[in-house]
Amino acid sequence: MTRFDELKGELSAVPKKWLVTGVGGFIGSNLLEALLKLDQSVVGLDNFATGKRANLEQVQGLVTPAQWEKFRFIEGSICDAAACRLAVAGVDFVLHQAALGSVPRSMVEPLGAHEANVTGFLTMLDAARNARVKRFVYASSSAVYGDAPTLPKVEDKIGQPLSPYAATKLINEVYAQTYAKAYGCEAIGLRYFNVFGPRQDPDGAYAAVIPKWIAALLRREPVQINGDGETSRDFCFVANVIQANLLAATTVKADAINQQYNVAVGERTTLNELFHLLQNGLRRRDPSLPEQSPQYQDFRAGDVRHSLADISKAQHRLGYAPGLKVRAGLDLALEWYCRSVG
Ligand SMILES: NC(=O)c1ccc[n+]([C@@H]2O[C@H](COP(=O)([O-])OP(=O)(O)OC[C@H]3O[C@@H](n4cnc5c(N)ncnc54)[C@H](O)[C@@H]3O)[C@@H](O)[C@H]2O)c1
Repeated sequence: MTRFDELKGELSAVPKKWLVTGVGGFIGSNLLEALLKLDQSVVGLDNFATGKRANLEQVQGLVTPAQWEKFRFIEGSICDAAACRLAVAGVDFVLHQAALGSVPRSMVEPLGAHEANVTGFLTMLDAARNARVKRFVYASSSAVYGDAPTLPKVEDKIGQPLSPYAATKLINEVYAQTYAKAYGCEAIGLRYFNVFGPRQDPDGAYAAVIPKWIAALLRREPVQINGDGETSRDFCFVANVIQANLLAATTVKADAINQQYNVAVGERTTLNELFHLLQNGLRRRDPSLPEQSPQYQDFRAGDVRHSLADISKAQHRLGYAPGLKVRAGLDLALEWYCRSVG
């Protein structure tokens, strides 16, 4: 039995109250689903900047009416101190996911990234401090490794940020550490590496590679690869991210608190491999889908060549044990996209 299995039993026996910011988004709505299925009380905050009401409706359909009763949604912005105060009242743990994601978006709209990801983050962190929540767990990013050349990425060896998005996530970590020192708050930063899974948006200019390619293959449209396809990433199924959040929120180990952790699988997949995994997985489900070759185009400015996490810190200090590796996660994700993409 893993530490996470034990924790799920403990939470079901003695439910807690959680705030999930960005609850209408991909990761937020998956956290909501997991928490409600464990009979937890959840407050959600979102302004639908990139999230969708349909994500919340889908979660409603996946839990019992009694579990759904334990969810209270507040439509509002993390930049609004009053909304943050309201959302955090009486909450045990905050899982702060709300942000404007995407490195390319931040290159085009750096001020928008700063507003949501820095001002909004600090507004939420300060509301959590004043409400004396037990723990503030927040979404950081592998982007904080910036120009550091070492592989795999180890938490204490970061480089210079290469985009406004990376800078905002690094500033989050600085503020969280400062609040720990100045006010005695407990905060844990989770550096997510390329997360994927159900409800990740396949559409729009800033869609992530996995949902974008799945949708293109299902719609019988061409798939473009930036560069030669040998760029690699540590793709992480969303269930592993949920596990890391719940372990981080509840750990009582002193050396685990006020830290940052890589959240990934520790497995490297090239874009060429990913393309074949997706195409083969979809054609197994629907043999009528045409077999296509990807179209190679220029490398995208700012993209790092390889990204791979060392996950031993999260394994040792949090008991993190990513149960779903890339192939198993992709199978579950493909099931969902086959049902959902029109
Ligand atoms: N998906 C990934 O691969 C990945 C990787 C690294 C880090 N992250 C981080 O994880 C978090 C969740 O990402 P996601 O992939 O679920 O993205 P998402 O865009 O699906 O979800 C983000 C949510 O935050 C909400 N939001 C944005 N600005 C807000 C504001 N001012 N007030 C209230 N809500 C606001 C959006 O409406 C959306 O529902 C983000 O902090 C992101 O930076 C994600």
